[in-house]
Amino acid sequence: MSDIRVKIDGVAMAAPDKILTNKDLERIVDTSDEWIRTRTGMVERRISDEHTAASDIVLKACEKLFKKSSIRTRDIDLIIVATVTPDHPFPSTACILQTKLGIPHCPAFDISAGCTGFIYAITIAKQFIENGSATNALVIGVELLTKITNWTDRNTCVLFGDGAGAAIVTQANKGEISEIIDTYISSDGRYGDLLIMRGGGSRNPTSKETVEQNMHTLYMEGNKIFKIAVKSMGDAAVRILERNGFTGDDVDWLIPHQANLRIIDATAKRIHLLPQKVIINIEKYGNTSSASIPLAFAEAIEDGRVRRGDLIVLDAFGAGLTWGSVLLRY
Ligand SMILES: CC(C)(COP(=O)(O)OP(=O)(O)OC[C@H]1O[C@@H](n2cnc3c(N)ncnc32)[C@H](O)[C@@H]1OP(=O)(O)O)[C@@H](O)C(=O)NCCC(=O)NCCS
Repeated sequence: MSDIRVKIDGVAMAAPDKILTNKDLERIVDTSDEWIRTRTGMVERRISDEHTAASDIVLKACEKLFKKSSIRTRDIDLIIVATVTPDHPFPSTACILQTKLGIPHCPAFDISAGCTGFIYAITIAKQFIENGSATNALVIGVELLTKITNWTDRNTCVLFGDGAGAAIVTQANKGEISEIIDTYISSDGRYGDLLIMRGGGSRNPTSKETVEQNMHTLYMEGNKIFKIAVKSMGDAAVRILERNGFTGDDVDWLIPHQANLRIIDATAKRIHLLPQKVIINIEKYGNTSSASIPLAFAEAIEDGRVRRGDLIVLDAFGAGLTWGSVLLRY
Protein backbone atom coordinates (compact mmCIF):
# COMPACT_ATOMS: atom_id res chain seq x y z
CA MET A 1 0.00 0.00 0.00
CA SER A 2 1.23 3.46 -0.94
CA ASP A 3 1.35 6.37 1.52
CA ILE A 4 0.31 8.67 -1.30
CA ARG A 5 -3.38 9.49 -1.28
CA VAL A 6 -5.08 10.57 -4.48
CA LYS A 7 -7.98 12.97 -5.04
CA ILE A 8 -10.01 14.60 -7.77
CA ASP A 9 -9.03 18.28 -7.83
CA GLY A 10 -11.83 19.39 -10.15
CA VAL A 11 -14.11 18.39 -13.01
CA ALA A 12 -15.38 20.42 -15.98
CA MET A 13 -17.50 19.67 -19.01
CA ALA A 14 -18.31 20.90 -22.49
CA ALA A 15 -20.86 19.92 -25.11
CA PRO A 16 -21.73 21.16 -28.59
CA ASP A 17 -24.32 23.95 -28.72
CA LYS A 18 -26.61 22.27 -31.23
CA ILE A 19 -29.52 20.38 -29.70
CA LEU A 20 -31.26 17.40 -31.30
CA THR A 21 -34.66 16.82 -29.69
CA ASN A 22 -36.88 13.75 -29.65
CA LYS A 23 -39.21 15.70 -31.94
CA ASP A 24 -36.35 16.19 -34.42
CA LEU A 25 -35.76 12.42 -34.34
CA GLU A 26 -39.42 11.79 -35.18
CA ARG A 27 -38.62 13.35 -38.57
CA ILE A 28 -35.59 11.07 -39.12
CA VAL A 29 -36.85 7.59 -38.10
CA ASP A 30 -40.10 5.87 -37.12
CA THR A 31 -40.08 6.84 -33.43
CA SER A 32 -41.91 9.09 -31.01
CA ASP A 33 -41.07 11.52 -28.24
CA GLU A 34 -43.26 9.42 -25.95
CA TRP A 35 -41.39 6.14 -26.74
CA ILE A 36 -37.98 7.70 -26.17
CA ARG A 37 -38.97 9.46 -22.93
CA THR A 38 -40.67 6.44 -21.35
CA ARG A 39 -38.10 3.83 -22.43
CA THR A 40 -34.95 5.87 -21.76
CA GLY A 41 -35.64 9.16 -19.95
CA MET A 42 -34.02 11.09 -22.81
CA VAL A 43 -35.52 14.30 -24.18
CA GLU A 44 -32.68 15.89 -26.12
CA ARG A 45 -29.01 15.39 -26.84
CA ARG A 46 -26.13 17.50 -28.25
CA ILE A 47 -24.78 17.00 -31.75
CA SER A 48 -21.47 18.31 -33.07
CA ASP A 49 -20.95 19.83 -36.50
CA GLU A 50 -18.86 18.39 -39.30
CA HIS A 51 -15.79 20.45 -38.36
CA THR A 52 -15.65 19.34 -34.71
CA ALA A 53 -13.57 16.40 -33.49
CA ALA A 54 -13.16 14.91 -30.00
CA SER A 55 -10.11 17.00 -29.07
CA ASP A 56 -11.94 20.24 -29.98
CA ILE A 57 -14.66 19.64 -27.40
CA VAL A 58 -12.16 18.38 -24.83
CA LEU A 59 -10.19 21.59 -25.24
CA LYS A 60 -13.26 23.61 -24.20
CA ALA A 61 -13.76 21.43 -21.12
CA CYS A 62 -10.05 21.78 -20.25
CA GLU A 63 -10.14 25.57 -20.57
CA LYS A 64 -12.87 25.65 -17.90
CA LEU A 65 -11.05 23.07 -15.78
CA PHE A 66 -7.73 24.92 -15.62
CA LYS A 67 -9.48 28.24 -14.97
CA LYS A 68 -10.84 26.80 -11.70
CA SER A 69 -7.69 24.97 -10.60
CA SER A 70 -4.41 26.02 -9.02
CA ILE A 71 -2.76 23.28 -11.08
CA ARG A 72 -1.42 24.64 -14.40
CA THR A 73 -1.14 22.83 -17.71
CA ARG A 74 2.64 22.79 -17.25
CA ASP A 75 2.16 20.78 -14.03
CA ILE A 76 0.37 17.91 -15.84
CA ASP A 77 2.55 14.82 -16.17
CA LEU A 78 0.03 12.21 -17.37
CA ILE A 79 -2.81 12.44 -19.90
CA ILE A 80 -5.40 9.69 -20.29
CA VAL A 81 -8.28 10.03 -22.75
CA ALA A 82 -11.11 7.50 -22.57
CA THR A 83 -12.92 7.42 -25.89
CA VAL A 84 -14.28 5.18 -28.64
CA THR A 85 -14.59 8.18 -30.97
CA PRO A 86 -11.04 9.59 -31.09
CA ASP A 87 -10.01 12.27 -33.61
CA HIS A 88 -8.24 9.46 -35.55
CA PRO A 89 -7.44 5.78 -34.88
CA PHE A 90 -3.91 7.11 -34.36
CA PRO A 91 -2.16 9.19 -33.13
CA SER A 92 -4.00 9.17 -29.84
CA THR A 93 -6.35 12.00 -28.96
CA ALA A 94 -4.31 12.33 -25.75
CA CYS A 95 -1.23 13.29 -27.79
CA ILE A 96 -3.27 15.72 -29.89
CA LEU A 97 -4.59 17.28 -26.70
CA GLN A 98 -1.11 17.52 -25.23
CA THR A 99 -0.05 19.72 -28.14
CA LYS A 100 -3.22 21.82 -28.06
CA LEU A 101 -2.75 22.52 -24.34
CA GLY A 102 1.03 22.94 -24.54
CA ILE A 103 1.63 20.27 -21.89
CA PRO A 104 5.33 19.31 -21.56
CA HIS A 105 6.68 15.82 -22.34
CA CYS A 106 4.75 13.17 -20.42
CA PRO A 107 2.94 9.87 -21.01
CA ALA A 108 -0.24 10.47 -23.03
CA PHE A 109 -2.52 7.71 -24.26
CA ASP A 110 -6.10 6.77 -25.09
CA ILE A 111 -8.00 3.87 -23.60
CA SER A 112 -10.99 1.96 -24.97
CA ALA A 113 -13.44 0.74 -22.35
CA GLY A 114 -16.70 1.98 -23.86
CA CYS A 115 -19.00 3.79 -21.47
CA THR A 116 -16.87 2.63 -18.50
CA GLY A 117 -13.89 4.52 -19.94
CA PHE A 118 -13.86 7.33 -17.38
CA ILE A 119 -13.88 4.84 -14.48
CA TYR A 120 -11.04 2.88 -16.10
CA ALA A 121 -9.07 6.09 -16.70
CA ILE A 122 -9.49 7.28 -13.09
CA THR A 123 -8.35 3.84 -11.91
CA ILE A 124 -5.20 3.99 -14.05
CA ALA A 125 -4.40 7.58 -13.03
CA LYS A 126 -4.80 6.73 -9.35
CA GLN A 127 -2.25 3.93 -9.66
CA PHE A 128 0.28 6.08 -11.55
CA ILE A 129 0.07 8.66 -8.77
CA GLU A 130 0.15 6.14 -5.93
CA ASN A 131 3.27 4.45 -7.29
CA GLY A 132 5.02 7.79 -7.81
CA SER A 133 5.05 7.69 -11.63
CA ALA A 134 2.92 10.82 -11.93
CA THR A 135 1.74 13.71 -9.76
CA ASN A 136 -0.98 15.52 -11.71
CA ALA A 137 -3.05 13.54 -14.22
CA LEU A 138 -5.45 14.97 -16.76
CA VAL A 139 -8.26 12.43 -17.14
CA ILE A 140 -10.74 12.82 -19.97
CA GLY A 141 -13.96 11.14 -21.07
CA VAL A 142 -15.01 12.32 -24.51
CA GLU A 143 -17.40 10.97 -27.08
CA LEU A 144 -18.81 12.21 -30.37
CA LEU A 145 -21.15 9.28 -30.80
CA THR A 146 -23.31 11.08 -33.34
CA LYS A 147 -20.35 10.68 -35.72
CA ILE A 148 -20.70 6.88 -35.61
CA THR A 149 -24.49 6.74 -35.45
CA ASN A 150 -26.55 4.82 -38.00
CA TRP A 151 -29.30 7.36 -38.65
CA THR A 152 -31.52 4.70 -40.25
CA ASP A 153 -31.52 2.47 -37.12
CA ARG A 154 -34.20 3.62 -34.67
CA ASN A 155 -32.93 1.09 -32.10
CA THR A 156 -29.76 3.11 -31.59
CA CYS A 157 -29.91 6.54 -33.24
CA VAL A 158 -32.22 8.00 -30.61
CA LEU A 159 -29.92 7.12 -27.73
CA PHE A 160 -26.57 8.79 -28.20
CA GLY A 161 -25.11 12.29 -27.97
CA ASP A 162 -21.83 14.21 -27.88
CA GLY A 163 -19.87 15.73 -25.01
CA ALA A 164 -16.66 15.83 -23.02
CA GLY A 165 -15.65 15.84 -19.38
CA ALA A 166 -12.21 16.55 -17.95
CA ALA A 167 -10.83 15.98 -14.46
CA ILE A 168 -7.54 16.65 -12.73
CA VAL A 169 -6.50 13.73 -10.56
CA THR A 170 -3.71 14.64 -8.16
CA GLN A 171 -2.07 13.92 -4.79
CA ALA A 172 -4.19 14.69 -1.73
CA ASN A 173 -2.46 16.74 0.94
CA LYS A 174 -2.00 15.43 4.47
CA GLY A 175 -5.19 15.78 6.52
CA GLU A 176 -7.26 16.68 3.48
CA ILE A 177 -10.72 15.09 3.32
CA SER A 178 -10.81 14.77 -0.50
CA GLU A 179 -9.69 11.32 -1.63
CA ILE A 180 -10.36 8.61 -4.19
CA ILE A 181 -11.02 5.86 -1.64
CA ASP A 182 -11.26 2.88 -3.97
CA THR A 183 -11.87 1.85 -7.58
CA TYR A 184 -13.21 -1.36 -9.07
CA ILE A 185 -13.12 -2.36 -12.76
CA SER A 186 -14.07 -5.55 -14.56
CA SER A 187 -15.08 -6.93 -17.95
CA ASP A 188 -16.57 -9.92 -19.77
CA GLY A 189 -15.48 -10.12 -23.40
CA ARG A 190 -17.98 -12.88 -24.23
CA TYR A 191 -20.64 -10.21 -24.75
CA GLY A 192 -18.50 -8.00 -27.01
CA ASP A 193 -20.68 -8.54 -30.08
CA LEU A 194 -23.71 -6.98 -28.38
CA LEU A 195 -22.23 -3.49 -28.67
CA ILE A 196 -19.70 -3.09 -31.43
CA MET A 197 -18.44 -1.05 -34.37
CA ARG A 198 -17.62 -3.83 -36.82
CA GLY A 199 -15.87 -1.88 -39.57
CA GLY A 200 -12.69 0.15 -39.83
CA GLY A 201 -10.39 -2.11 -37.80
CA SER A 202 -8.11 -4.95 -38.86
CA ARG A 203 -11.03 -7.45 -38.84
CA ASN A 204 -13.01 -5.50 -41.44
CA PRO A 205 -10.80 -2.77 -42.93
CA THR A 206 -12.81 0.10 -44.41
CA SER A 207 -14.00 -0.71 -47.93
CA LYS A 208 -16.90 0.18 -50.18
CA GLU A 209 -18.69 -2.92 -48.81
CA THR A 210 -18.16 -2.06 -45.13
CA VAL A 211 -19.51 1.43 -45.74
CA GLU A 212 -22.50 0.15 -47.71
CA GLN A 213 -23.31 -2.19 -44.83
CA ASN A 214 -23.01 0.65 -42.29
CA MET A 215 -20.22 -1.21 -40.48
CA HIS A 216 -18.57 2.11 -39.63
CA THR A 217 -21.48 2.83 -37.27
CA LEU A 218 -22.44 1.64 -33.83
CA TYR A 219 -24.38 -1.65 -33.59
CA MET A 220 -26.16 -2.58 -30.37
CA GLU A 221 -28.55 -5.23 -29.11
CA GLY A 222 -29.97 -2.96 -26.44
CA ASN A 223 -32.52 -5.27 -24.84
CA LYS A 224 -29.91 -8.05 -24.32
CA ILE A 225 -27.52 -5.55 -22.79
CA PHE A 226 -30.19 -4.05 -20.53
CA LYS A 227 -30.35 -6.96 -18.09
CA ILE A 228 -26.58 -7.34 -17.88
CA ALA A 229 -26.23 -3.59 -17.34
CA VAL A 230 -28.71 -3.58 -14.46
CA LYS A 231 -26.91 -6.47 -12.76
CA SER A 232 -23.34 -5.25 -13.37
CA MET A 233 -23.95 -1.66 -12.32
CA GLY A 234 -25.81 -2.79 -9.22
CA ASP A 235 -23.06 -5.28 -8.34
CA ALA A 236 -20.32 -2.68 -8.91
CA ALA A 237 -22.01 -0.18 -6.58
CA VAL A 238 -22.67 -2.78 -3.86
CA ARG A 239 -19.13 -4.19 -4.09
CA ILE A 240 -17.32 -0.87 -3.73
CA LEU A 241 -19.46 0.18 -0.76
CA GLU A 242 -19.28 -3.16 1.05
CA ARG A 243 -15.55 -3.65 0.75
CA ASN A 244 -14.97 -0.18 2.21
CA GLY A 245 -17.45 -0.59 5.06
CA PHE A 246 -20.10 1.80 3.76
CA THR A 247 -23.81 1.43 2.97
CA GLY A 248 -26.15 3.44 0.78
CA ASP A 249 -27.05 5.53 3.84
CA ASP A 250 -23.51 6.96 3.90
CA VAL A 251 -23.59 8.01 0.24
CA ASP A 252 -24.24 11.66 -0.59
CA TRP A 253 -24.37 11.16 -4.37
CA LEU A 254 -24.53 8.41 -6.94
CA ILE A 255 -23.23 9.67 -10.28
CA PRO A 256 -24.07 6.86 -12.70
CA HIS A 257 -23.42 6.41 -16.39
CA GLN A 258 -26.42 7.89 -18.18
CA ALA A 259 -27.53 5.09 -20.54
CA ASN A 260 -31.12 4.62 -19.45
CA LEU A 261 -33.19 6.08 -16.62
CA ARG A 262 -34.54 2.64 -15.79
CA ILE A 263 -31.00 1.25 -15.34
CA ILE A 264 -30.10 4.25 -13.15
CA ASP A 265 -33.21 3.76 -10.99
CA ALA A 266 -32.48 0.04 -10.56
CA THR A 267 -28.89 0.80 -9.52
CA ALA A 268 -30.00 3.35 -6.93
CA LYS A 269 -32.50 0.83 -5.55
CA ARG A 270 -29.78 -1.87 -5.23
CA ILE A 271 -27.90 0.34 -2.75
CA HIS A 272 -31.13 1.64 -1.14
CA LEU A 273 -30.42 5.21 -2.18
CA LEU A 274 -33.09 7.90 -2.22
CA PRO A 275 -33.83 9.17 -5.76
CA GLN A 276 -32.86 12.73 -4.77
CA LYS A 277 -29.29 11.52 -4.16
CA VAL A 278 -28.79 10.49 -7.78
CA ILE A 279 -27.27 12.93 -10.29
CA ILE A 280 -29.21 12.62 -13.53
CA ASN A 281 -28.89 14.68 -16.71
CA ILE A 282 -29.82 12.01 -19.27
CA GLU A 283 -32.79 14.16 -20.36
CA LYS A 284 -30.39 16.84 -21.66
CA TYR A 285 -27.52 14.85 -23.14
CA GLY A 286 -28.68 11.27 -23.82
CA ASN A 287 -25.96 8.63 -23.60
CA THR A 288 -22.55 10.26 -24.06
CA SER A 289 -20.66 7.07 -23.17
CA SER A 290 -17.34 7.76 -21.42
CA ALA A 291 -18.26 11.46 -21.12
CA SER A 292 -21.51 10.92 -19.26
CA ILE A 293 -20.14 10.64 -15.70
CA PRO A 294 -17.81 13.67 -15.87
CA LEU A 295 -20.60 15.67 -17.61
CA ALA A 296 -23.00 14.91 -14.75
CA PHE A 297 -20.27 15.37 -12.11
CA ALA A 298 -19.22 18.76 -13.49
CA GLU A 299 -22.80 20.04 -13.70
CA ALA A 300 -23.48 18.97 -10.11
CA ILE A 301 -20.35 20.80 -8.91
CA GLU A 302 -21.28 23.90 -10.92
CA ASP A 303 -24.83 24.10 -9.54
CA GLY A 304 -23.64 23.51 -5.95
CA ARG A 305 -25.19 20.09 -5.34
CA VAL A 306 -21.83 18.33 -5.00
CA ARG A 307 -19.60 19.86 -2.33
CA ARG A 308 -16.12 19.16 -1.00
CA GLY A 309 -16.14 16.17 1.34
CA ASP A 310 -19.28 14.56 -0.15
CA LEU A 311 -19.12 10.76 -0.40
CA ILE A 312 -19.73 9.85 -4.03
CA VAL A 313 -20.11 6.63 -6.00
CA LEU A 314 -19.36 6.72 -9.73
CA ASP A 315 -20.76 3.68 -11.53
CA ALA A 316 -20.72 2.65 -15.20
CA PHE A 317 -21.24 -0.09 -17.71
CA GLY A 318 -20.38 -0.30 -21.40
CA ALA A 319 -18.95 -1.92 -24.51
CA GLY A 320 -16.56 -4.76 -23.90
CA LEU A 321 -18.60 -5.52 -21.95
CA THR A 322 -17.00 -3.55 -19.14
CA TRP A 323 -18.20 -2.17 -15.84
CA GLY A 324 -16.79 -0.52 -12.76
CA SER A 325 -17.19 1.92 -9.89
CA VAL A 326 -15.27 4.55 -7.98
CA LEU A 327 -15.79 5.54 -4.35
CA LEU A 328 -14.50 8.98 -3.47
CA ARG A 329 -14.76 11.96 -1.21
CA TYR A 330 -14.82 15.01 -3.45
C1 LIG B 1 -32.19 0.33 -26.06
C2 LIG B 1 -33.33 0.32 -25.07
C3 LIG B 1 -33.73 1.73 -24.71
C4 LIG B 1 -34.54 -0.34 -25.70
O1 LIG B 1 -35.61 -0.42 -24.77
P1 LIG B 1 -36.39 -1.80 -24.59
O2 LIG B 1 -37.45 -1.56 -23.62
O3 LIG B 1 -35.36 -2.86 -24.25
O4 LIG B 1 -37.01 -2.02 -26.00
P2 LIG B 1 -36.80 -3.22 -27.04
O5 LIG B 1 -35.44 -3.16 -27.63
O6 LIG B 1 -37.21 -4.50 -26.37
O7 LIG B 1 -37.85 -2.83 -28.14
C5 LIG B 1 -39.25 -2.81 -27.86
C6 LIG B 1 -39.96 -2.39 -29.12
O8 LIG B 1 -39.71 -1.01 -29.40
C7 LIG B 1 -39.23 -0.87 -30.73
N1 LIG B 1 -38.31 0.24 -30.82
C8 LIG B 1 -36.95 0.21 -30.69
N2 LIG B 1 -36.46 1.45 -30.82
C9 LIG B 1 -37.51 2.27 -31.01
C10 LIG B 1 -37.64 3.65 -31.17
N3 LIG B 1 -36.57 4.47 -31.19
N4 LIG B 1 -38.86 4.18 -31.33
C11 LIG B 1 -39.94 3.40 -31.32
N5 LIG B 1 -39.90 2.06 -31.15
C12 LIG B 1 -38.69 1.51 -30.99
C13 LIG B 1 -38.60 -2.19 -31.06
O9 LIG B 1 -38.57 -2.40 -32.45
C14 LIG B 1 -39.53 -3.16 -30.36
O10 LIG B 1 -40.67 -3.35 -31.16
P3 LIG B 1 -41.36 -4.79 -31.25
O11 LIG B 1 -41.81 -5.09 -29.86
O12 LIG B 1 -42.45 -4.55 -32.21
O13 LIG B 1 -40.29 -5.70 -31.73
C15 LIG B 1 -32.95 -0.45 -23.79
O14 LIG B 1 -32.90 -1.83 -24.05
C16 LIG B 1 -31.61 -0.03 -23.23
O15 LIG B 1 -31.47 1.06 -22.72
N6 LIG B 1 -30.66 -0.94 -23.27
C17 LIG B 1 -29.35 -0.73 -22.68
C18 LIG B 1 -28.57 0.30 -23.39
C19 LIG B 1 -27.21 0.33 -22.84
O16 LIG B 1 -27.04 0.17 -21.67
N7 LIG B 1 -26.24 0.49 -23.71
C20 LIG B 1 -24.91 0.06 -23.47
C21 LIG B 1 -24.19 0.65 -22.41
S1 LIG B 1 -23.87 2.30 -22.70
